Amino acid sequence: MHLTNEQERMLDGEEGPAAAKLLELLVALGEVFEAERLVPVESAHISGVSYKNLGEAGLEWLEEQADLGARARIRATLNPAGMDMDLWREMGVPEEFAKGQRKVIEVFERMGVEPTCTCTPYLIGHVPKFGSQIAWAESSAVCFSNSVLGARTNRESGPTTLASAVTGLAALYGYRLDENRRPGVVVDIEAELKTTMDYSALGYVIGKKLGKTVPYFRGLGRSSLESMKALGAACATSGGIALWHGEGVTPEAGQMKAFLDGLERLSVGDADLAEEVARLTRPLRDPIIVLGCPHSSLAELADIATFVEGRDMGGKLWVFTSRGVYEEAGEAGYIGVIENAGGRVFRDTCMVVAPVKEMGWDEVATNSFKAGHYMASMGLETRIATIRELLTGGSG
Ligand code: F3S
Repeated sequence: MHLTNEQERMLDGEEGPAAAKLLELLVALGEVFEAERLVPVESAHISGVSYKNLGEAGLEWLEEQADLGARARIRATLNPAGMDMDLWREMGVPEEFAKGQRKVIEVFERMGVEPTCTCTPYLIGHVPKFGSQIAWAESSAVCFSNSVLGARTNRESGPTTLASAVTGLAALYGYRLDENRRPGVVVDIEAELKTTMDYSALGYVIGKKLGKTVPYFRGLGRSSLESMKALGAACATSGGIALWHGEGVTPEAGQMKAFLDGLERLSVGDADLAEEVARLTRPLRDPIIVLGCPHSSLAELADIATFVEGRDMGGKLWVFTSRGVYEEAGEAGYIGVIENAGGRVFRDTCMVVAPVKEMGWDEVATNSFKAGHYMASMGLETRIATIRELLTGGSG
């Protein structure tokens, strides 16, 4: 791989041992993927934040980087942690876990990373420009930034995003290159997409069928920001899709029309979606309703508030969002309405990265296939339904 003189000097330690070590990691990765060179990246979004996944070994690695002088030179935000950093006791998070989690956040702050603790950084002002090279982890955020924003990233990991944050560089391969952003299959949507859950189901079906192949959707219809974040999160979960195009919806779809001839075609109908809903749905006794995977937007919190106003959710509704959106929703009065109805709204974390087993959970109901998929794989009983069905018992 070709390195500039400046990059060679960084590798030789001119910018400190942390930058040298982390650049070494990026160069090794680039060599595996036969990248010709490194490119500057404008922003990083770092995963591997929950103490549940990191454990002591992960924390020690981060501390080592910080002690060696690792400091972010580009904007870098953080994915969710394992608890609300203020309300962890109310979540039932064990004290020992909270201790470890606080250390993780402190070490990231020491390295100049913003402790945003959200998987939707694009909802709180971290919005990469169309065509920009970025280094993002968190599969749903990767899918959103590649597809909806038209930025360029691979599905990065915690260590590689930290390496890019500290060096300002990434290896040029994969979805950073034009030729790998072309679709591999045309998907004709015959299903009626009415709710965010329908888009989540569609993503889940497609991910399962296509694996990592880039889909080109026809017939997505009115696609709100919420439906697009749900679609991407689900297809990244069941398959590993990092980029999708939607005709008339996503910014690169127009230029992809030139590459559609001869592609395999696939159609998805209502029955395909219903089958996946049924697969993750069990008869539950007294589930906790979990919403906000990916983290809720302001519009979703407004909807939830409308549905629960005047009801009694009895502490059995947990909603997850970012601090930025929480603040806006608080000002708009939505948080107050949800809490008056016996719901809880937590920041910094989610149902998947929190230690829910230790918190005593065994049954959850959600509108998110990503959440349902992971919670089922953790051994919890799940139900998938629309927000309206979950909160009011009504349909649609
Ligand atoms: Fe976000 Fe957690 Fe879902 S990180 S996408 S809310 S699993």
